[in-house]
Amino acid sequence: MKGIILAGGSATRLYPLSKAISKQIMPVYDKPMIYYPLSTLMLAGIREVLVISTPRDLPMFKELLGDGSRIGMQLSYKIQEVPNGLAQAFVLGKEFLNGEAGCLILGDNMFYGQHFSRMLKEAVRDVTESKGACVFGYEVADPRAYGVVEFEESHQPSAINSQLRVLSLEEKPEHPKSNYAVPGLYFYDESVCEKAAVLKPSKRGEYEITDLNKMYLAEGKLRVKLFSRGFAWLDTGNCDSLLEAGNFIATIQNRQGFYVSCIEEIAWRNGWIDSEQLFALGKEMKTKYGQYLVALAQKA
Ligand code: DAU
Repeated sequence: MKGIILAGGSATRLYPLSKAISKQIMPVYDKPMIYYPLSTLMLAGIREVLVISTPRDLPMFKELLGDGSRIGMQLSYKIQEVPNGLAQAFVLGKEFLNGEAGCLILGDNMFYGQHFSRMLKEAVRDVTESKGACVFGYEVADPRAYGVVEFEESHQPSAINSQLRVLSLEEKPEHPKSNYAVPGLYFYDESVCEKAAVLKPSKRGEYEITDLNKMYLAEGKLRVKLFSRGFAWLDTGNCDSLLEAGNFIATIQNRQGFYVSCIEEIAWRNGWIDSEQLFALGKEMKTKYGQYLVALAQKA
């Protein structure tokens, strides 16, 4: 399976912060925001990733991440001229996917919690072996700003991780049928580009990811897995939530001493780079971050 990070848009809710630079390159505590979605793909075991962004911002991502070889990955890049909607990722990414299954993550979606890697690997396995699509559900107090998924009534919260029967999906409904938002992390089989190609723009003029998910639902091929109560899906949409996300990461890292979404560490733990390479990457940075990498490499 290959991965796509959609990191475009204009992030007007963060103005003036995002007037001249991409939101997804901004710091979340000690690292650029895109490290977080990139690390999610890495935890899923995905090594080939396409980064999609605006003509203005794409060069900055290239400068930050390069071709990915330093962390044992293959990264490529594609421009989205106009932010026409999330499902466009699979029109722009058709050549990259080249008939393979694909995982899409939004460049501003951050996840942290127990069993996350396991859930990601299960999603990859399900979609690869049984086809269809896999998305997630996350209970929020007010789901009106999200895609919302409704389950069959017999669903109990204890059914975490079980396969749930989906009744409906709606994008930003005024009257949500449930409190379960669909986060920006989607796993699709190899039919995804074919499906995305026939989507029509919604009333607000966008190629909606929810409409793509509805196509899988109509075929009876949409699986939804729930994130549990203690799991963090962090918002970075405005300056308060961005600061809170940074504070959250700082709290976890400083308390435990483990870094969250450290792409070099994940590459090393995945066996994509060796201790010598990790050491060299750490030595390049005269920061706590660099020292952390050096210490990991030396402990090995
Ligand atoms: O975050 C999860 C939500 O993301 C889902 O629950 C919704 O179903 C989904 O539509 C999306 O809603 P948002 O309101 O967050 O979408 P937004 O238009 O803000 O775009 C999300 C990110 O993707 C944002 O960082 C900008 C980027 N983007 C967006 C569009 C429409 C692009 O790179 N290209 C685009 O064409």
